[in-house]
Amino acid sequence: MISSRIFEKWWLRAFVALVIFFIWQICYAINKVQGLEEEKTVLQATIEVLKRKSDMLRTEIHEKERTLTRLDGRIEEIDTQIRDHISLLPRVNRSTPFIYFVTPTHFRAAQKADLTRLSYTLSHVPNLHWIVVEDSDSLTSSVAEILKRSRLPYTHLNARTPSAQKMKYTDPNWTLPRGVEQRNAALLWIQNQLSGVGSGVVYFGDDDNTYDLKIFEEMRKVDNAGVWPVGIVGGMFVETPVLADNGSIISFNSIWKPDRPFPIDMAAFAVNVTLILSHPNALFSFDVPRGYQESTFLENLGIDRLNMEPLAEKCTKVYVWHTRTEKSKLSKGMVEKLTKKTGFNELESHALGVAY
Ligand code: UGA
Ligand code: MN
Repeated sequence: MISSRIFEKWWLRAFVALVIFFIWQICYAINKVQGLEEEKTVLQATIEVLKRKSDMLRTEIHEKERTLTRLDGRIEEIDTQIRDHISLLPRVNRSTPFIYFVTPTHFRAAQKADLTRLSYTLSHVPNLHWIVVEDSDSLTSSVAEILKRSRLPYTHLNARTPSAQKMKYTDPNWTLPRGVEQRNAALLWIQNQLSGVGSGVVYFGDDDNTYDLKIFEEMRKVDNAGVWPVGIVGGMFVETPVLADNGSIISFNSIWKPDRPFPIDMAAFAVNVTLILSHPNALFSFDVPRGYQESTFLENLGIDRLNMEPLAEKCTKVYVWHTRTEKSKLSKGMVEKLTKKTGFNELESHALGVAY
Protein backbone atom coordinates (compact mmCIF):
# COMPACT_ATOMS: atom_id res chain seq x y z
CA MET A 1 0.00 0.00 0.00
CA ILE A 2 2.68 2.38 1.09
CA SER A 3 4.87 1.61 -1.95
CA SER A 4 2.12 1.95 -4.43
CA ARG A 5 1.50 5.25 -2.82
CA ILE A 6 5.00 6.29 -3.08
CA PHE A 7 5.12 5.42 -6.80
CA GLU A 8 2.07 7.35 -7.33
CA LYS A 9 4.25 10.43 -7.00
CA TRP A 10 5.38 11.16 -10.52
CA TRP A 11 8.72 12.71 -9.63
CA LEU A 12 9.64 9.73 -7.60
CA ARG A 13 8.91 7.49 -10.54
CA ALA A 14 11.00 9.70 -12.74
CA PHE A 15 13.88 9.65 -10.24
CA VAL A 16 13.91 5.84 -10.06
CA ALA A 17 13.85 5.65 -13.85
CA LEU A 18 16.76 8.07 -14.00
CA VAL A 19 18.75 6.02 -11.47
CA ILE A 20 18.07 2.83 -13.44
CA PHE A 21 19.13 4.63 -16.63
CA PHE A 22 22.40 5.79 -15.04
CA ILE A 23 23.13 2.34 -13.65
CA TRP A 24 22.53 0.91 -17.10
CA GLN A 25 24.79 3.55 -18.64
CA ILE A 26 27.57 2.81 -16.15
CA CYS A 27 27.27 -0.93 -16.81
CA TYR A 28 27.40 -0.23 -20.53
CA ALA A 29 30.51 1.97 -20.13
CA ILE A 30 32.24 -0.62 -17.93
CA ASN A 31 31.49 -3.23 -20.53
CA LYS A 32 32.90 -1.03 -23.27
CA VAL A 33 36.12 -0.31 -21.35
CA GLN A 34 36.58 -4.01 -20.72
CA GLY A 35 36.11 -4.64 -24.43
CA LEU A 36 38.64 -1.96 -25.29
CA GLU A 37 41.11 -3.33 -22.77
CA GLU A 38 40.86 -6.71 -24.42
CA GLU A 39 41.25 -5.12 -27.83
CA LYS A 40 44.29 -3.22 -26.56
CA THR A 41 45.87 -6.41 -25.25
CA VAL A 42 45.27 -8.12 -28.57
CA LEU A 43 46.72 -5.16 -30.45
CA GLN A 44 49.75 -5.00 -28.17
CA ALA A 45 50.36 -8.68 -28.77
CA THR A 46 50.03 -8.11 -32.52
CA ILE A 47 52.48 -5.20 -32.31
CA GLU A 48 54.95 -7.39 -30.43
CA VAL A 49 54.66 -10.08 -33.09
CA LEU A 50 55.11 -7.55 -35.87
CA LYS A 51 58.10 -6.00 -34.08
CA ARG A 52 59.72 -9.40 -33.79
CA LYS A 53 58.98 -10.06 -37.44
CA SER A 54 60.48 -6.70 -38.44
CA ASP A 55 63.59 -7.41 -36.34
CA MET A 56 63.93 -10.77 -38.02
CA LEU A 57 63.52 -9.21 -41.46
CA ARG A 58 66.06 -6.54 -40.63
CA THR A 59 68.56 -9.18 -39.55
CA GLU A 60 67.83 -11.11 -42.72
CA ILE A 61 68.36 -7.95 -44.84
CA HIS A 62 71.64 -7.33 -43.03
CA GLU A 63 72.83 -10.84 -43.66
CA LYS A 64 71.80 -10.67 -47.31
CA GLU A 65 73.63 -7.34 -47.68
CA ARG A 66 76.74 -8.86 -46.15
CA THR A 67 76.54 -11.83 -48.51
CA LEU A 68 76.09 -9.42 -51.41
CA THR A 69 79.19 -7.43 -50.42
CA ARG A 70 81.12 -10.68 -50.04
CA LEU A 71 79.98 -11.85 -53.46
CA ASP A 72 80.82 -8.48 -55.01
CA GLY A 73 84.35 -8.78 -53.59
CA ARG A 74 84.65 -12.30 -54.91
CA ILE A 75 83.45 -11.24 -58.38
CA GLU A 76 86.05 -8.47 -58.41
CA GLU A 77 88.72 -10.95 -57.32
CA ILE A 78 87.80 -13.44 -60.03
CA ASP A 79 87.60 -10.63 -62.55
CA THR A 80 91.12 -9.49 -61.67
CA GLN A 81 92.38 -13.07 -61.75
CA ILE A 82 90.91 -13.63 -65.19
CA ARG A 83 92.25 -10.37 -66.53
CA ASP A 84 95.68 -10.94 -65.04
CA HIS A 85 95.93 -14.45 -66.37
CA ILE A 86 95.08 -13.64 -69.92
CA SER A 87 98.47 -12.64 -71.17
CA LEU A 88 98.28 -9.67 -73.48
CA LEU A 89 101.56 -10.63 -75.03
CA PRO A 90 101.78 -11.87 -78.56
CA ARG A 91 103.90 -15.03 -78.99
CA VAL A 92 107.44 -14.52 -77.81
CA ASN A 93 110.02 -15.02 -80.50
CA ARG A 94 113.37 -16.36 -79.29
CA SER A 95 115.30 -14.43 -81.94
CA THR A 96 113.67 -11.10 -81.03
CA PRO A 97 116.14 -8.93 -79.09
CA PHE A 98 115.15 -8.07 -75.55
CA ILE A 99 114.29 -4.53 -74.57
CA TYR A 100 115.50 -3.47 -71.12
CA PHE A 101 113.04 -0.71 -70.30
CA VAL A 102 114.41 1.38 -67.42
CA THR A 103 111.87 3.43 -65.47
CA PRO A 104 112.82 5.68 -62.55
CA THR A 105 109.75 6.39 -60.44
CA HIS A 106 108.99 8.50 -57.40
CA PHE A 107 106.08 8.81 -55.00
CA ARG A 108 103.50 11.50 -55.81
CA ALA A 109 99.71 11.68 -56.08
CA ALA A 110 99.69 10.24 -59.61
CA GLN A 111 102.46 7.63 -59.28
CA LYS A 112 100.16 4.62 -59.01
CA ALA A 113 97.96 5.96 -61.82
CA ASP A 114 100.91 6.62 -64.14
CA LEU A 115 102.58 3.28 -63.43
CA THR A 116 99.29 1.42 -63.88
CA ARG A 117 98.84 3.00 -67.31
CA LEU A 118 102.43 2.29 -68.29
CA SER A 119 102.15 -1.33 -67.11
CA TYR A 120 99.19 -1.87 -69.42
CA THR A 121 101.17 -0.47 -72.35
CA LEU A 122 104.21 -2.62 -71.63
CA SER A 123 102.02 -5.71 -71.10
CA HIS A 124 101.54 -5.77 -74.86
CA VAL A 125 105.24 -5.90 -75.65
CA PRO A 126 106.97 -9.26 -76.12
CA ASN A 127 110.57 -9.75 -74.99
CA LEU A 128 110.61 -6.74 -72.71
CA HIS A 129 112.25 -6.71 -69.31
CA TRP A 130 110.98 -3.86 -67.14
CA ILE A 131 113.56 -2.44 -64.74
CA VAL A 132 111.75 -0.19 -62.30
CA VAL A 133 113.82 1.80 -59.85
CA GLU A 134 111.99 3.52 -57.04
CA ASP A 135 113.27 6.81 -55.69
CA SER A 136 112.81 5.61 -52.11
CA ASP A 137 114.55 4.04 -49.13
CA SER A 138 112.87 0.71 -49.71
CA LEU A 139 110.74 -1.11 -52.24
CA THR A 140 107.04 -0.36 -51.92
CA SER A 141 104.35 -3.00 -52.12
CA SER A 142 102.18 -0.85 -54.36
CA VAL A 143 104.84 -0.77 -57.10
CA ALA A 144 105.60 -4.46 -56.49
CA GLU A 145 101.91 -5.27 -57.04
CA ILE A 146 101.82 -3.35 -60.34
CA LEU A 147 104.95 -5.19 -61.52
CA LYS A 148 103.52 -8.55 -60.52
CA ARG A 149 100.22 -7.86 -62.25
CA SER A 150 101.99 -6.75 -65.45
CA ARG A 151 103.07 -10.40 -65.95
CA LEU A 152 106.25 -9.06 -67.53
CA PRO A 153 109.76 -10.18 -66.67
CA TYR A 154 110.90 -7.40 -64.32
CA THR A 155 113.47 -6.20 -61.85
CA HIS A 156 112.38 -4.06 -58.93
CA LEU A 157 115.05 -1.85 -57.38
CA ASN A 158 115.25 1.24 -55.23
CA ALA A 159 117.78 4.07 -55.05
CA ARG A 160 116.99 7.24 -53.16
CA THR A 161 117.91 10.61 -54.64
CA PRO A 162 120.22 12.34 -52.09
CA SER A 163 118.17 14.96 -50.21
CA ALA A 164 120.38 17.80 -51.49
CA GLN A 165 119.39 16.80 -55.04
CA LYS A 166 115.74 16.14 -54.29
CA MET A 167 113.21 18.70 -55.47
CA LYS A 168 110.58 20.11 -53.13
CA TYR A 169 106.91 19.69 -54.07
CA THR A 170 106.66 23.36 -54.98
CA ASP A 171 109.87 23.48 -57.06
CA PRO A 172 109.36 23.93 -60.81
CA ASN A 173 110.09 20.64 -62.60
CA TRP A 174 113.31 21.88 -64.20
CA THR A 175 115.05 22.85 -60.93
CA LEU A 176 117.11 19.65 -60.68
CA PRO A 177 117.72 16.62 -62.90
CA ARG A 178 115.43 13.68 -62.14
CA GLY A 179 116.01 9.95 -62.30
CA VAL A 180 119.83 10.20 -62.09
CA GLU A 181 120.39 7.92 -59.10
CA GLN A 182 117.71 5.50 -60.29
CA ARG A 183 118.98 5.12 -63.87
CA ASN A 184 122.49 4.58 -62.51
CA ALA A 185 121.19 1.82 -60.23
CA ALA A 186 119.63 0.18 -63.29
CA LEU A 187 122.88 0.54 -65.25
CA LEU A 188 124.79 -1.13 -62.41
CA TRP A 189 122.23 -3.94 -62.34
CA ILE A 190 122.69 -4.37 -66.10
CA GLN A 191 126.49 -4.43 -65.71
CA ASN A 192 126.24 -7.07 -63.01
CA GLN A 193 123.39 -9.23 -64.23
CA LEU A 194 123.67 -9.07 -68.01
CA SER A 195 127.43 -9.29 -68.38
CA GLY A 196 127.29 -12.29 -70.71
CA VAL A 197 124.40 -11.01 -72.80
CA GLY A 198 125.24 -10.43 -76.46
CA SER A 199 122.13 -8.66 -77.69
CA GLY A 200 119.36 -6.44 -76.44
CA VAL A 201 118.62 -2.78 -76.21
CA VAL A 202 118.39 -0.38 -73.26
CA TYR A 203 115.81 2.40 -73.19
CA PHE A 204 115.06 4.97 -70.49
CA GLY A 205 111.30 5.39 -70.30
CA ASP A 206 109.74 7.93 -67.90
CA ASP A 207 106.70 6.67 -66.03
CA ASP A 208 104.52 9.47 -67.41
CA ASN A 209 105.31 9.37 -71.15
CA THR A 210 103.00 7.92 -73.81
CA TYR A 211 104.30 5.06 -75.91
CA ASP A 212 102.91 3.72 -79.20
CA LEU A 213 103.59 -0.02 -79.37
CA LYS A 214 105.42 0.66 -82.64
CA ILE A 215 108.27 2.34 -80.77
CA PHE A 216 109.26 -1.01 -79.29
CA GLU A 217 109.65 -2.60 -82.69
CA GLU A 218 111.80 0.35 -83.73
CA MET A 219 114.04 -0.12 -80.68
CA ARG A 220 114.69 -3.73 -81.57
CA LYS A 221 116.30 -2.57 -84.83
CA VAL A 222 119.05 -0.71 -82.95
CA ASP A 223 122.57 -1.94 -83.71
CA ASN A 224 124.50 0.63 -81.75
CA ALA A 225 122.41 3.68 -80.89
CA GLY A 226 119.03 4.52 -82.40
CA VAL A 227 117.22 7.85 -82.40
CA TRP A 228 113.70 9.00 -83.38
CA PRO A 229 111.30 11.94 -83.07
CA VAL A 230 109.57 12.69 -79.75
CA GLY A 231 106.24 14.51 -79.56
CA ILE A 232 105.47 17.51 -77.33
CA VAL A 233 108.89 18.24 -75.92
CA GLY A 234 111.45 21.02 -75.65
CA GLY A 235 108.85 23.68 -76.45
CA MET A 236 107.98 22.02 -79.76
CA PHE A 237 105.30 19.76 -81.13
CA VAL A 238 108.05 17.40 -82.27
CA GLU A 239 111.77 17.29 -81.61
CA THR A 240 113.57 15.28 -84.26
CA PRO A 241 116.82 14.58 -86.02
CA VAL A 242 116.91 16.19 -89.46
CA LEU A 243 117.90 13.82 -92.27
CA ALA A 244 119.59 14.34 -95.59
CA ASP A 245 118.06 12.78 -98.72
CA ASN A 246 120.37 9.80 -98.31
CA GLY A 247 118.86 9.15 -94.86
CA SER A 248 121.83 10.22 -92.72
CA ILE A 249 121.44 12.67 -89.83
CA ILE A 250 122.59 16.18 -90.66
CA SER A 251 121.27 18.09 -87.63
CA PHE A 252 118.55 18.31 -84.99
CA ASN A 253 115.61 20.71 -85.02
CA SER A 254 115.72 21.45 -81.26
CA ILE A 255 115.18 25.03 -80.14
CA TRP A 256 116.01 24.53 -76.43
CA LYS A 257 119.79 24.59 -75.94
CA PRO A 258 120.37 23.46 -79.55
CA ASP A 259 124.13 23.55 -79.00
CA ARG A 260 124.08 20.53 -76.73
CA PRO A 261 126.13 17.65 -78.19
CA PHE A 262 122.90 15.63 -78.30
CA PRO A 263 119.98 18.07 -78.28
CA ILE A 264 117.44 15.30 -77.65
CA ASP A 265 115.20 14.04 -74.84
CA MET A 266 115.75 10.84 -72.88
CA ALA A 267 112.77 9.34 -74.74
CA ALA A 268 114.42 9.84 -78.12
CA PHE A 269 117.08 7.14 -78.06
CA ALA A 270 117.94 3.54 -77.21
CA VAL A 271 121.34 1.91 -77.12
CA ASN A 272 122.61 -1.61 -77.51
CA VAL A 273 123.15 -3.37 -74.21
CA THR A 274 126.66 -4.41 -75.28
CA LEU A 275 127.60 -0.73 -75.44
CA ILE A 276 126.51 -0.30 -71.83
CA LEU A 277 128.49 -3.39 -70.83
CA SER A 278 131.64 -2.16 -72.56
CA HIS A 279 131.39 1.35 -71.02
CA PRO A 280 130.89 0.85 -67.28
CA ASN A 281 131.75 4.48 -66.62
CA ALA A 282 128.95 5.84 -68.78
CA LEU A 283 126.56 6.99 -66.05
CA PHE A 284 124.24 9.86 -65.33
CA SER A 285 125.42 12.65 -63.04
CA PHE A 286 124.09 15.54 -60.97
CA ASP A 287 127.23 17.36 -61.92
CA VAL A 288 126.28 18.36 -65.47
CA PRO A 289 124.53 21.52 -66.73
CA ARG A 290 120.76 21.45 -66.99
CA GLY A 291 119.62 19.53 -70.07
CA TYR A 292 122.96 17.76 -70.52
CA GLN A 293 122.04 14.38 -68.98
CA GLU A 294 121.43 12.75 -72.35
CA SER A 295 124.48 14.36 -73.95
CA THR A 296 126.89 13.41 -71.18
CA PHE A 297 125.69 9.83 -71.09
CA LEU A 298 125.76 9.35 -74.87
CA GLU A 299 129.17 11.02 -75.16
CA ASN A 300 130.53 8.70 -72.47
CA LEU A 301 129.28 5.77 -74.51
CA GLY A 302 131.44 7.05 -77.37
CA ILE A 303 128.52 7.65 -79.70
CA ASP A 304 128.78 10.04 -82.61
CA ARG A 305 125.48 11.95 -82.87
CA LEU A 306 125.50 12.07 -86.64
CA ASN A 307 126.14 8.34 -86.81
CA MET A 308 123.13 7.39 -84.73
CA GLU A 309 120.62 5.17 -86.52
CA PRO A 310 117.54 7.24 -87.45
CA LEU A 311 114.43 5.10 -86.93
CA ALA A 312 110.62 5.48 -87.05
CA GLU A 313 110.45 5.40 -90.84
CA LYS A 314 113.42 7.71 -91.31
CA CYS A 315 112.17 9.98 -88.55
CA THR A 316 108.86 10.66 -90.28
CA LYS A 317 106.73 9.13 -87.53
CA VAL A 318 106.15 9.95 -83.88
CA TYR A 319 105.77 6.89 -81.65
CA VAL A 320 106.53 8.44 -78.27
CA TRP A 321 105.24 11.59 -76.61
CA HIS A 322 106.80 13.39 -73.68
CA THR A 323 103.47 13.79 -71.90
CA ARG A 324 103.67 15.03 -68.32
CA THR A 325 101.05 14.34 -65.71
CA GLU A 326 99.77 17.63 -64.36
CA LYS A 327 100.90 18.29 -60.81
CA SER A 328 97.77 17.83 -58.68
CA LYS A 329 96.32 21.02 -57.17
CA LEU A 330 96.45 20.32 -53.46
CA SER A 331 95.84 22.19 -50.23
CA LYS A 332 98.74 22.79 -47.82
CA GLY A 333 97.49 20.01 -45.56
CA MET A 334 97.35 17.56 -48.45
CA VAL A 335 100.87 18.47 -49.61
CA GLU A 336 102.06 17.78 -46.07
CA LYS A 337 100.38 14.37 -46.10
CA LEU A 338 102.00 13.60 -49.48
CA THR A 339 105.42 14.76 -48.29
CA LYS A 340 105.19 12.72 -45.08
CA LYS A 341 103.39 9.93 -46.91
CA THR A 342 101.05 9.49 -43.99
CA GLY A 343 97.60 10.49 -42.69
CA PHE A 344 95.54 9.09 -45.57
CA ASN A 345 92.27 7.27 -45.02
CA GLU A 346 91.81 3.73 -46.36
CA LEU A 347 90.38 4.75 -49.72
CA GLU A 348 92.97 7.47 -50.27
CA SER A 349 95.71 4.99 -49.39
CA HIS A 350 94.38 2.64 -52.06
CA ALA A 351 94.19 5.44 -54.64
CA LEU A 352 97.74 6.59 -53.98
CA GLY A 353 99.34 3.19 -53.42
CA VAL A 354 100.26 3.77 -49.79
CA ALA A 355 100.15 1.06 -47.13
CA TYR A 356 97.16 1.61 -44.78
C1 UGA B 1 112.46 15.08 -68.67
C2 UGA B 1 113.01 13.82 -69.34
O1 UGA B 1 111.98 13.21 -70.10
C3 UGA B 1 113.46 12.88 -68.22
O2 UGA B 1 113.84 11.66 -68.80
C4 UGA B 1 114.59 13.56 -67.49
O3 UGA B 1 114.98 12.75 -66.41
C5 UGA B 1 114.11 14.87 -66.93
O4 UGA B 1 113.51 15.69 -67.95
C6 UGA B 1 115.30 15.64 -66.35
O5 UGA B 1 115.64 16.68 -66.87
O6 UGA B 1 115.85 15.17 -65.37
P1 UGA B 1 110.32 15.25 -67.08
O7 UGA B 1 109.03 14.75 -67.63
O8 UGA B 1 110.51 16.70 -67.01
O9 UGA B 1 111.47 14.57 -67.86
O10 UGA B 1 110.66 14.59 -65.65
P2 UGA B 1 109.81 13.61 -64.76
O11 UGA B 1 108.89 12.77 -65.57
O12 UGA B 1 109.26 14.39 -63.63
O13 UGA B 1 110.97 12.66 -64.20
C7 UGA B 1 111.64 11.72 -65.01
C8 UGA B 1 111.53 10.34 -64.35
O14 UGA B 1 112.22 10.36 -63.10
C9 UGA B 1 110.10 9.91 -64.06
O15 UGA B 1 109.92 8.56 -64.41
C10 UGA B 1 109.95 10.16 -62.58
O16 UGA B 1 109.04 9.31 -61.91
C11 UGA B 1 111.36 9.97 -62.05
N1 UGA B 1 111.64 10.83 -60.87
C12 UGA B 1 111.27 12.12 -60.84
C13 UGA B 1 112.29 10.28 -59.80
O17 UGA B 1 112.63 9.09 -59.80
N2 UGA B 1 112.54 11.07 -58.69
C14 UGA B 1 112.14 12.38 -58.63
O18 UGA B 1 112.39 13.04 -57.60
C15 UGA B 1 111.51 12.91 -59.74
MN1 MN C 1 108.18 12.84 -67.49
